Amino acid sequence: MLICGTAPDLIIMIFNYLKIVLLLNAACILSISCQKKSITKQLNTQTTIKLMTDYKEQFRPQFHFSPQEKWMNDPNGLVYYKGVYHLFYQYYPEDIVWGPMHWGHAVSKDLISWEHKPIALFPDELGHIFSGSAVVDIHNTSGLGTKENPPLVAIFTYHLMEGEKAGRTDFQTQGIAYSLDNGDTWTKYQGNPVIGNDDIKDFRDPKVFWHDETNRWIMALVAGDYAMFYSSSDLKEWVYLSDFGQDKGAHGGVWECPDLFKLKVGETDEEKWVLLISINPGAPNGGSGTQYFIGDFDGTTFTAEHTDEKWIDYGADNYAGVTFNNTPNDERILIGWMSNWYYAQNTPTENWRSAMTLPRELSLIKENDNYFLRNTIIEAFENYKTIIEQNDRISLDKKFVLSDYDFSQSEIKFQVNLTRDLKITLKNDKEALFFEMNPSEKEMTLDRHQSGLVDFEPRFAEAVHSMPYDAVEKEVDIQILMDKSSIEIFIDRGRYVMTEQIFPTKNYTELQISSKSEGVSIKNMKVSKIKAIW
Ligand code: FRU
Repeated sequence: MLICGTAPDLIIMIFNYLKIVLLLNAACILSISCQKKSITKQLNTQTTIKLMTDYKEQFRPQFHFSPQEKWMNDPNGLVYYKGVYHLFYQYYPEDIVWGPMHWGHAVSKDLISWEHKPIALFPDELGHIFSGSAVVDIHNTSGLGTKENPPLVAIFTYHLMEGEKAGRTDFQTQGIAYSLDNGDTWTKYQGNPVIGNDDIKDFRDPKVFWHDETNRWIMALVAGDYAMFYSSSDLKEWVYLSDFGQDKGAHGGVWECPDLFKLKVGETDEEKWVLLISINPGAPNGGSGTQYFIGDFDGTTFTAEHTDEKWIDYGADNYAGVTFNNTPNDERILIGWMSNWYYAQNTPTENWRSAMTLPRELSLIKENDNYFLRNTIIEAFENYKTIIEQNDRISLDKKFVLSDYDFSQSEIKFQVNLTRDLKITLKNDKEALFFEMNPSEKEMTLDRHQSGLVDFEPRFAEAVHSMPYDAVEKEVDIQILMDKSSIEIFIDRGRYVMTEQIFPTKNYTELQISSKSEGVSIKNMKVSKIKAIW
């Protein structure tokens, strides 16, 4: 983890930084073909690279994962092994815009505080390393490790840029790599690619998991705007099983980053299969979003039971979310990329771009014979909070105002006896973010057009974003998390969620809660400061 506070630390930091620069210069002079790729590799082997930022830049999230520097998109290879959660991610180590993809790597014991690791996977002659998953091959089915030391196996998409540029349609294939040292170093499999391409232009993002019922590996991946399933006994030979979705769900863009898993319905013994599909563009509020299907997977075919579109998050900035394999108690924990391809490469940060959502535990609920996903922040997050303001009961007959606070790294939580409208405003002296709930209109809205810097890309704030709201409970839980440049709103314990980026030029210092209706009151209000993880 990066700690960079005291004077001696600072001197060491400067010294180490100069050391890297000198080393790189020397390397460049010695080698005429000083390719960017090889610089990346050298940087990567310098452990001192960890000290290249103090994580205090304007807009830098304090309790969400973000790369130390440069470009990041999708979470990849989410897996738990031997007490450690691994987060790999789409990474371009040479610029703050998308480029030749690598897998960056970080580890955590509690999913909130992260430690950066060297880059795990580099592009090679088969292509750039696009999104994918990782499994613990506990029985060494692949033969890439031993029974005593089973391998971690990463399954990813190779994207061959030359093929794409030449106008071919077979430039995405699937490859694997393995690690025998708990994810620290990775070796690409000699027999790559393990799945070739028969002319499918967008053929990517394999999510692999062990399917107990049929005793084999299952892979979900996407092909254009539908999903495909494959099976394997050894992670190397794959057999096509079936397709899903040509006539189901939203199709406003390409399907990406699938995930397939089983969940219990509430506290009952009923079980359902859930298929997550990210889509870009085509999300309800424009650009990138994640839809899901609920149904059954019989080991070969996935069938959805509903015709309505379901979205995991109605905010504009939760994309490519997938869940961890091999979690200790079978929890389903999702991490998403907190951005949107509409403007991801234009956001006003300088030496890094984008962050991940907080990890969220997924559960299934049944409402009027329809099933929905709930996502709630994992429990470990509780350890990072310190309550700074409490109020048992507040009537909203008059507007409630909390001013002179710093909300830039905070949680606001309360319950409301919501029968009518509610408006929450977070502001500084010139910028404001508005969230409104309107049960009679069956809608909630988030309006960021005055929230701070917005004009770096026209689509960032051109519309007020809305979420359908079918209020079933009278008393509703509201939880709002703000972390410098993001806001995550969870209504009714994660039944309704909106995640968005914001770029206030000054911290928000005022909270207002109001209702146009009479008799609305809020209970158990708690405002907490959240500890920084860096
Ligand atoms: C989703 C995505 C994936 C792809 C990766 C490339 O954001 O487009 O489909 O594998 O990003 O970086």
